[in-house]
Amino acid sequence: MTPSLTIRFDPVAADRALRADARAGLSATPKTLPPVWFYDDLGSELFDQITRLEEYYPTRAERLLLETHARELVAACGATTLIELGAGTCTKTTVLLDAMAALGQLERYVAVDVAESTIVDATTALALRYPGAAIDAVVADFTDLDGLFPDVDHRLIAFLGGTVGNFDPAGRARFFTDLDAQLTTTDALLLGTDLVKDRTRLVAAYDDAQGVTAAFNRNVLAVLNRELGASFDPSAFTHVALFDEEHQWIEMRLRAERAMDVRVEALELDLHFEAGEELRTEISAKFTADGLAAELSKLGWLVDRQLDQPGGDFLLTLAHPYC
Ligand code: AVJ
Repeated sequence: MTPSLTIRFDPVAADRALRADARAGLSATPKTLPPVWFYDDLGSELFDQITRLEEYYPTRAERLLLETHARELVAACGATTLIELGAGTCTKTTVLLDAMAALGQLERYVAVDVAESTIVDATTALALRYPGAAIDAVVADFTDLDGLFPDVDHRLIAFLGGTVGNFDPAGRARFFTDLDAQLTTTDALLLGTDLVKDRTRLVAAYDDAQGVTAAFNRNVLAVLNRELGASFDPSAFTHVALFDEEHQWIEMRLRAERAMDVRVEALELDLHFEAGEELRTEISAKFTADGLAAELSKLGWLVDRQLDQPGGDFLLTLAHPYC
């Protein structure tokens, strides 16, 4: 069978979203930027390097859970369509797709990610590997779920890697509610979440010795320079990673090492940073199995499985709408 690959990308919408996010976030006090803008080609490559760092345990832990439980998970939900939000390089995807194919239930895979060339490359390879399946790449932000999912039964939405932790609690509640509005009782959600643990290990995962995470963090300023004609000097900002005990999330920030003025030409926006001022670039929430199950139950969902390994670094949750 000929591989079937469809790519959907709206560059005008992406540009409009970047402008809106930069204007809102950089005008706020304290200044913030949403993490979605990390992932240009270089940012995606740096994140890929992060996933292989000694300190960054989530990717390895999740992969092991998927390898151990993929068959059981896809059999339990009976999914014929896999939709992956924030698919990136799709490296863990093959574990799920192989399990679906082995059970004779693989019809379609939809990869959703903002990193255009990353998912185009990844899905091109997948189309060759699974010639009997329809493979779609959708270059989009997963916060806008409207019209994102194909209108079929037995869909499995995979949201892996702990990316749901990028939402603040209100954003996460909104995301779950939006998801609930899109899904029916034949669908399911497979959610990967990082677990609360010793803060030293948590912080090390976001502040590695080689400085890859620091480069990843600063890269967002290079994205604004290129895409919006901004005048940031990335080398004047220091990478900061901390664990917020109250909110149970990791926060990444960029600290201005000196007072400076920055112009964002495309927005006709002039910014000032005080020496020591911090721009928040990411939160990465950490969970407990019970806390997450409670959030999903509040939606009226059933939690079918919660899987972690001894030591409990990471958690996979399979859940579905009940009525
Ligand atoms: C891709 C959002 C899951 O929060 O751990 C890694 C991103 N940031 N190191 C995470 C990230 C810094 C990552 N997610």
